[in-house]
Amino acid sequence: MSGERSEALAFYGATGDLAYKKIFPALQRLVGSGALDVPVIGISRGGWSLERLRARARQSVEEHGGGADPVAFPRLMRLLRYVEGDYGDPATFDALRRELGEAARPVHYLAIPQALFEVVVGQVGRICGGGGARLVLEKPFGSDLDSARRLNAAVHRAFDERSIFRIDHYLGKEAVQNLVFFRFANTFLEPIWNRRYVESVQVTMAEPFGIKGRGAFYDQTGTIRDVVQNHLLQVLSNIAMEPPSATRDGETLRDEKVKVLKAVAPLEQARVVRGQFRGYHDEPGVAPGSTTETFAALELSVASWRWDGVPFFIRAGKNLPVSRTEVVVKLRRPPPTLGVPLVSNHVRFRLGPEFQIGLGATVREPGGLNGGHHLELLASHHHEGAETDPYAELLGDAMRGETFRFAREDYVEEAWRIVDPVLRGGPPPTVYEPGTWGPPEAGALVPGGWVDPAVEAPP
Ligand code: BG6
Repeated sequence: MSGERSEALAFYGATGDLAYKKIFPALQRLVGSGALDVPVIGISRGGWSLERLRARARQSVEEHGGGADPVAFPRLMRLLRYVEGDYGDPATFDALRRELGEAARPVHYLAIPQALFEVVVGQVGRICGGGGARLVLEKPFGSDLDSARRLNAAVHRAFDERSIFRIDHYLGKEAVQNLVFFRFANTFLEPIWNRRYVESVQVTMAEPFGIKGRGAFYDQTGTIRDVVQNHLLQVLSNIAMEPPSATRDGETLRDEKVKVLKAVAPLEQARVVRGQFRGYHDEPGVAPGSTTETFAALELSVASWRWDGVPFFIRAGKNLPVSRTEVVVKLRRPPPTLGVPLVSNHVRFRLGPEFQIGLGATVREPGGLNGGHHLELLASHHHEGAETDPYAELLGDAMRGETFRFAREDYVEEAWRIVDPVLRGGPPPTVYEPGTWGPPEAGALVPGGWVDPAVEAPP
């Protein structure tokens, strides 16, 4: 659903970590591509000045945005404004309204802790409600099913669903969008993409670092809330969804994703393995004796005509051996009529850090003595300079009122419904050594074992 362009962008949390790492670089990109040429108003309770915010923006793009672009950065600085004040004080929002001038469709981007969402949304509704204002909300959206429902009800008091943009930056990633594109842009995949040919699906998100000073946030969150409920269920939906119908209505894609989640049963404690890396308790901000997981492996099933009986395994963790996000779709083994043992074929999508598609196949060994030789047909998709920035993509969408790359209310609630039963209680996580693939119990979840992403030798 797209609408008229926004005439201003207000972002809350302007002096925060996310603004520093992601938002200023994205703003510079948007200005550089010509997609942003309206006032950009940073808001924070930090007691800063516009000068200090400009200096911070420069540091941010130097560290995280490939440097200050000689054309785009000065332009961004001319567009940048600053409003300082407490989020609980209506005067902050009155000052913001003055900065917004005549803007009838401003974007309000809440890059602040979700505990502040309700109070800020209430004030935004007061100064901009009833009009065309748009609300962009950072993840996490809620911390379980109940809180997500409450938050949805609170934002709906001031905004209708078409004006709400719940960010999941995975939806702005090229490789994640390509899962849907590749499936439905090629004829050869669709006939085998079902329970008759697919034995199992594995999704791995491995990160080789710990929690990077985010102890206070992470300890309240854990792996399942941090990346499974949002990013990895989005990946699962893209793998499992039916083709969207050919209308130009952006809702059909979101409808299909919701249909997938509706067919997923709530997680069972017995099908979840939780781990915590050794040394987690020494991280600043982590509570003594904390049982928050830094690793999770789990099994889900999708009760649909297409996927009945096919297990979907997901694992994610911090301090694992490599940086890789991969999907491996394992096909059923061919019948052994050649008189030699055969292994399954597979389709492998590497979603990060680089973009790759591999088709696992078996060819005859020369001489035929040992049977088959397993290889992978590899497609790498890499155009120099063509990488996109998920945050710039998504903010650009919100400025145009384009909702299809954001998580819809029903989707978010379905995703929480699936993970909700394992968010509280359950056995404490098993400690694993940093640099390993998590607790050994995770291996037992998957018949035949996990396919660990390969680590190529550096070129
Ligand atoms: C964030 C999580 O949403 O996604 C982080 O909070 C995680 O813990 C990050 O590291 C991964 O995103 P990306 O784009 O680096 O794969």
